[in-house]
Amino acid sequence: MTRRSPPAFTRDQEMLVRFRSLVLALLLTTTATQRLVAQRAVGESASQKDARMAWWRDARFGMFIHWGLYAVPAGVWKGERVNGLGEWIMARAPIRGDEYAPLARQFNPTQFDADAWVKTAKDAGMKYIIITSKHHDGFALFDSKVSSYDIVDATPYHRDAIKALASAARRAGLKFGVYYSIMDWHHPDAQAPAYPDYNSRTATNPNFSRYVETYMKPQLRELVTQYPEIDVLWFDGEWISDWSDAQGKSLYEWLRGLRPNLIINNRVGHSRQGMAGMSANPDAPGDFGTPEQRVPPEGLPGVDWETCMTLNDTWGFQSFDDGWKDARTLVRTLVDVASKGGNFLLNVGPTAQGLIPWQSVSRLREMGDWMRVNGEAIYGTTASPYGLPAWGRYTAKSSAGRVYAHVFDWPKDGRLTLTGLQAKPAAVYLLADRKPLTVEQTADGWAVRLPAVRPSAISSVLVLETRSTR
Ligand code: GLC
Repeated sequence: MTRRSPPAFTRDQEMLVRFRSLVLALLLTTTATQRLVAQRAVGESASQKDARMAWWRDARFGMFIHWGLYAVPAGVWKGERVNGLGEWIMARAPIRGDEYAPLARQFNPTQFDADAWVKTAKDAGMKYIIITSKHHDGFALFDSKVSSYDIVDATPYHRDAIKALASAARRAGLKFGVYYSIMDWHHPDAQAPAYPDYNSRTATNPNFSRYVETYMKPQLRELVTQYPEIDVLWFDGEWISDWSDAQGKSLYEWLRGLRPNLIINNRVGHSRQGMAGMSANPDAPGDFGTPEQRVPPEGLPGVDWETCMTLNDTWGFQSFDDGWKDARTLVRTLVDVASKGGNFLLNVGPTAQGLIPWQSVSRLREMGDWMRVNGEAIYGTTASPYGLPAWGRYTAKSSAGRVYAHVFDWPKDGRLTLTGLQAKPAAVYLLADRKPLTVEQTADGWAVRLPAVRPSAISSVLVLETRSTR
């Protein structure tokens, strides 16, 4: 448990933290439904798993990209707005396969610039990118030899977007992964015959195993053998009745056999508890849980999880979706996630021309401005050792003996009570200017005297040096 150890505290504090962790651990084991037991492939030790997960745990912030044929109608079919998620238009309208597939001829993203997308992610402070290699509609953004329903064979663009983005990410030093939908509305052996109810929870296809063996696995093999940059496989569409935890487990092991260092989400299995995102079955496959559009209220100590979230209300581009979250909300969500020990995967939905909407770019830029000053309090941090203070959040970096106080609400009287802190910190300063601040004891505990003007209206970060000076 290298990563979960608390920062350097006094002995008493350490005992208290240990006691709390023990109580939490006990609580968690009794609530089996809250558990996501870390999957270990046969032969992988705990420390080998820690090594495999290390970059992912340090990264904390990534970019999700939903891009595919659905960007062409962009939420409008035959002149009518189709409500719901942009990438679900085929199911929501609903659209027959022979009417949907010709959209490929209109998919010509001449303005797609992989380096520009990667730069947008990197400038925002993101450390990895996950893009849809194949969404529920079955269309592949990579050059698949198993199918001609892909960007190289079926569109006038004729270029492999996954290859371009994977190489650009590698050049920029970002990690890279692909989303892959198990559900497939295009394949006759999968969900295509279920039209108009592609997402039926009860429909089964007697030929589903043929789809798995002759189409899905060969496509996945192409991805993990021909794209050396792929570090993560991000499954989805696993809730169909033709899929099970057992199938997920064998797929997980097969993939790890092909690429031992792959990190695979828990949607490879079948027991995710809806949007809460953690697997109900303690033996379910997958390396991390996937809460969707939400942050677990109390956090999930001791497990790996990643909240994925949209910047507006949809994943795939939808021309009329203007429900944009502001940069303050987005940064505070990232802080909230980090303070609970998770990663934040924030989505963009590029247009059919290949552009990330400017509303997304401008928000990501603002996040990047904040991250350039305060990134130290996010990357490589672990969950708060002191719970959730009323004024904001804590993150911690035990290796550096530091706790970070993320102050959302700047106190009017200029005094911030460091809730939870037992011993006086050796030093306290703002990341924005690193000038030492005075700490005093009050009836409520240790309090820092803050300057009158906060350095950030989004979140001002204090460093608490908890390691006592020798
Ligand atoms: C949901 C949606 C899917 C989207 C995913 C991202 O499962 O069905 O369209 O890709 O969320 O987590």
